[in-house]
Amino acid sequence: MIFPTETVYGLGADANNIHACRRIYTVKNRPMLHPVIVHISSMDHLSEWAIDISDFAIKLAKEFWPGPVTLILKRSPLAKDFVTGGQNTVGLRIPNHPIALELLREFNSLGGSGIAAPSANRFGAVSPTDKVSAFEDLSKFLHSDDLILDGGQSSIGIESTIIDCTFKAPVILRPGSVTSEMIEDLLHIKIMDQKFKKAKFFPGSFKSHYSPRAVLKLNCQPKIGEGFIAMSEIPTPKGAIRLASPANDAEFARQMYSAFRMGDKLKLQTIVAVTPRGQGISVAIRDRLTRASKV
Ligand code: TXA
Ligand code: MG
Repeated sequence: MIFPTETVYGLGADANNIHACRRIYTVKNRPMLHPVIVHISSMDHLSEWAIDISDFAIKLAKEFWPGPVTLILKRSPLAKDFVTGGQNTVGLRIPNHPIALELLREFNSLGGSGIAAPSANRFGAVSPTDKVSAFEDLSKFLHSDDLILDGGQSSIGIESTIIDCTFKAPVILRPGSVTSEMIEDLLHIKIMDQKFKKAKFFPGSFKSHYSPRAVLKLNCQPKIGEGFIAMSEIPTPKGAIRLASPANDAEFARQMYSAFRMGDKLKLQTIVAVTPRGQGISVAIRDRLTRASKV
């Protein structure tokens, strides 16, 4: 089923059911080696899915869950290859959305232990931040008994911060609204640079991802008829089509993906975005904009 979270909408399936999980890959057209995040309802389920959990990982979970953080941990035997893409780790998250939490609790009461869910979009495309966007992307591939839960607009609008907790210090695999400063302030441990992890296959680090159909260009002057996304204080260049005017970084994150979709609906060839400066969530916004701009 498609369900809302505070980051983006997810395409969920019983994380213990190989057939259900395989369908996620079919519906998304996602490569089989690309692992999915297992969503759980509470910390009680942490040790079902993960083993050898470090103290700092527990601290992160206690501080940021339910919330926009995914922890990569050593997997337990419950986390099968069809969820982890064959890796020895599993990604876990408790989302902070009343409907997602209710769904997860209800699923537990029926005997389930976690819901595997990537973002509810076709592989490589823009994550959906509302029900209609998810449905538009995936409806062709759904069955009549698949479900969609409507939870309104996702309040954060970009995907969770992914923190690899399988080393001596945390490694951020994907920036998000929980920032490296917040993590270092909590743990008093320096985050390790992603580059040190010289894995042959590094999921989630595809250079090109989160892309609209339009070509996305960054920090240049839009031509007449091109889309334009920038902070509200930046005026719209003559002839450009304004797709979003966020007043701050949080609004930028919330509006960015729907602005991409709007550009595609208007059949624009090109969208120009002015990247927000500074730290905080704008690090994650720049990460997504940069990936979305790669072809
Ligand atoms: O906010 C989110 O994280 C949303 C909502 C639905 O929870 N989910 C999401 O899932 O963005 P997805 O599959 O679109 O992105 C998850 C990323 C993928 O790039 C995947 O490779 C990475 O997490 N990932 C999952 N398990 C992993 C693992 N064991 N090791 C490394 N990366 C992992
Ligand atoms: Mg995704």
